Amino acid sequence: MTSTRALVARGDGSAPRLIEVELDPVGPGEVLVELHASAVCRTELLTVDPPAADVGASAGANVGADAGASAPANAGAEETDGAAGGWDAAAGGASGGRLTVLGHAATGEVVEVGEGVGRLRPGDRVVVVGTHQCGECFYCRNGAPGACEKIFEHMERRVGETADGEIVWGDGGIGSHAERLVYPQSNLVRVEGAVPPEQLALLGCGVTSGLGSVLEVAGVRPGQSVAVSGCGHLGLWMVQAARLAGATTVIAIDPEPWRRERALELGATHALDGTGDVPAAVRALTEGRGADVGLEAAGTTLAMRQSFEATRYGGVVVPTGLESLAAEVTLSNLQYALSSRTIVGSQCGGGDVRRIVPEYEQLLARGVLRPDAIITARYPLDAAADAYPALADPQQLTGVILMPRAPSAAAPATPAAATTPTAATTPTPTSTTAAPEETP
Ligand SMILES: NC(=O)c1ccc[n+]([C@@H]2O[C@H](COP(=O)([O-])OP(=O)(O)OC[C@H]3O[C@@H](n4cnc5c(N)ncnc54)[C@H](O)[C@@H]3O)[C@@H](O)[C@H]2O)c1
Ligand SMILES: [Zn+2]
Ligand SMILES: [Zn+2]
Repeated sequence: MTSTRALVARGDGSAPRLIEVELDPVGPGEVLVELHASAVCRTELLTVDPPAADVGASAGANVGADAGASAPANAGAEETDGAAGGWDAAAGGASGGRLTVLGHAATGEVVEVGEGVGRLRPGDRVVVVGTHQCGECFYCRNGAPGACEKIFEHMERRVGETADGEIVWGDGGIGSHAERLVYPQSNLVRVEGAVPPEQLALLGCGVTSGLGSVLEVAGVRPGQSVAVSGCGHLGLWMVQAARLAGATTVIAIDPEPWRRERALELGATHALDGTGDVPAAVRALTEGRGADVGLEAAGTTLAMRQSFEATRYGGVVVPTGLESLAAEVTLSNLQYALSSRTIVGSQCGGGDVRRIVPEYEQLLARGVLRPDAIITARYPLDAAADAYPALADPQQLTGVILMPRAPSAAAPATPAAATTPTAATTPTPTSTTAAPEETP
């Protein structure tokens, strides 16, 4: 039997802790991965300490916001028909009490493949992505991989048990803060390993969700104006992607001054503090119309409404955050029905991860992105629990947990620090002040 140390949460607000887990054997369609690095995502806070509104009725799995850590509360084996029971069921409530391995974005090396696994073999470098995409179901084949039927099939997935027989679950059917874990192959994307593990791990959620929402979902074009609400881990990838896509006006909105400053360093042309009449302030910067594209990465329903209103008539609105599973967004009926805006949600970048993850790996390798400005802390697995309190610090954007077997685990982010996202049509971004780094 294979065992691992893993960072788990109880889902009752208690601090995550490291435990020993006996892993279930590799089953058909599954793959054992020796993990190298695992990224910490804010979405997991919904699993560690679910908002009161989410704790309740259903006996569901632990839940999160991007599919990476979302669990429809009552998705069971019979619920394999995709969206029908899927996301609606997620609003049923989070259940505390279950031991859940945190994390849903990681990288590592394939050690063993189960029966029926065709596209991966031992020795392959892979990214563990924060969503399942089988590539074959109705939704994957019809341009909606964010609703892949495997998401709901795998959501309540046990990964093993403790020495005294308690079942251990994977967050959102995934889980990645561990030395090794078994995954369904629909969670894994083969990569070249062209960048250090800490960057590959971010391809499992932040990079892919942020870049994909701009490049795949919104399809930002040169010369467009883009407003990004929320300049944390996700929003700062959106800012970088907007500049890469050639947006000439990139308005970064965040109440935290340090994060606005970072957004300006990464290519935003304007920064707003999110107070007052935000849509009016965005209109004032966009010839009175509003942004062509409004992206939301704040995780508050207020920001979602403001993002909608700050987008021009006929523009594209891309919400990505979750305040809680039970939250509702209120929009003006008149605007919702008549303003010709397109609202299109984005989950793990919206595109086929087997295509976009390798593409974004190459962008990282070419040095046109600034992971150095996003990775602000690195933790050995022994100190992984420290990554969660750090999420409350506005000067910490993303922590990465480096596993004992990581190749060149101590390697710093690629030396892309002097490189800023560039687009032929955009002005040169401002300074490249070094990020505050921490290596506990
Ligand atoms: N859909 C996806 O694929 C996906 C992927 C990753 C994360 N998420 C979700 O996206 C959200 C953001 O994640 P993150 O990791 O970037 O979090 P984060 O905490 O790093 O960033 C959120 C930022 O929003 C800012 N903010 C708060 N209220 C605001 C407001 N009214 N207007 C503008 N900004 C405001 C905060 O100051 C913070 O800087 C979370 O809800 C997370 O669960 C979604
Ligand atoms: Zn995530
Ligand atoms: Zn599918």
